[in-house]
Amino acid sequence: MIPAFDLKRQHQSIRAELDEAYARVLERGAFILGEEVEAFEAEFANYCGTKYAVGVASGTEALQLALSACGVRPRDDVLTVSHTAVATVAAVKFIGARPRFADVDLARYALDPEKLESSITQKTRALLPVHLYGGAAEMTPILDFARARGLVVVEDAAQAHGAVYRGRKVGGWGNAAAFSFYPTKNLGALGDGGAITTDDSRVAEKARLLRQYGWKERYVSSSKGINSRLDEMQAAFLRVKLRHLNVWNQRRRRIADIYFEALSALDLTLPLRPQDGEHVFHQFVIRSPRRDELREHLKREGIGTLIHYPMPVHLQPAYADIKIPRGALQNSEQAAREVLSLPIFPELTDDEARQVADAIRLFFKNA
Ligand SMILES: Cc1ncc(COP(=O)(O)O)c(C=O)c1O
Repeated sequence: MIPAFDLKRQHQSIRAELDEAYARVLERGAFILGEEVEAFEAEFANYCGTKYAVGVASGTEALQLALSACGVRPRDDVLTVSHTAVATVAAVKFIGARPRFADVDLARYALDPEKLESSITQKTRALLPVHLYGGAAEMTPILDFARARGLVVVEDAAQAHGAVYRGRKVGGWGNAAAFSFYPTKNLGALGDGGAITTDDSRVAEKARLLRQYGWKERYVSSSKGINSRLDEMQAAFLRVKLRHLNVWNQRRRRIADIYFEALSALDLTLPLRPQDGEHVFHQFVIRSPRRDELREHLKREGIGTLIHYPMPVHLQPAYADIKIPRGALQNSEQAAREVLSLPIFPELTDDEARQVADAIRLFFKNA
């Protein structure tokens, strides 16, 4: 059996380092917003090439706090994509703002800069591009568009730790960015976690206030806030894993190369290999109108696959009130019908990747 992902293999390989981090935090006896969180924030900001990182409780809350800290208010419109994790849109809703959608392009599976003009409204306050699957959205035209209209840009970088666009890592392009440390992410905690990155000291300061009751000093709320803290144990584990992230991302690219080479002649669409940066292959996503049959075939061959995502957000029952009819976002709907995520994680062996590719070739040979 070749699984879609396997966290046990990763944790076996760094078990001693994780044990040491756990023991250190337990011994110290402080568990919330302490020296591990501070150290991780500095190390993660340094990794992303931003001035600040603010640790929070999840990627979803990183989005909420980043949007709020950038000045997005209830009833503002936030333009994003429908082909994404539902969390992107849920975060907009939970701060009382209104999600609006522009279609994705089918090469990057990201916000299509060509669609921005026709998708904004008088009330649009922010653009929320998603760096889906580990590849960057086209930030230059998106930022040009935003600057010309005085819009804020918040990046959803939940799937793209370490991805590079035009010489700069994601997380440093917009006014702020949100990362998730959900365990299966390229940089994952042993539980939930998230972070906001920014170069703007005011945004960082607001995010810090928002994550802990608006406290500037203990027990005195100078503004309104919630509890969305990263805890010491997760920060300690994340510090261990951050040290391995570059090697893990390289390993993902190596597996992607095996897939690219073995699958290029087949009648399916492979991911874009960006010429203007570095993909970190959080997912390796192929596309075929015969996706469901192919998935069944791979299952019979003992190969796990996933679908990210089977239903675009605008067609989900909870978001019917946004009133985007079926057919309105054609690329997003086509992606939902055709995408398939192949096994990719740093500990997948070359041999396993070749077995996956052979099984896919067999499917198309027998067709
Ligand atoms: C694109 C995207 N945005 C936001 C999130 C939300 O992150 P979390 O699960 O940490 O809340 C995720 C992860 O699930 C994601 O993939």
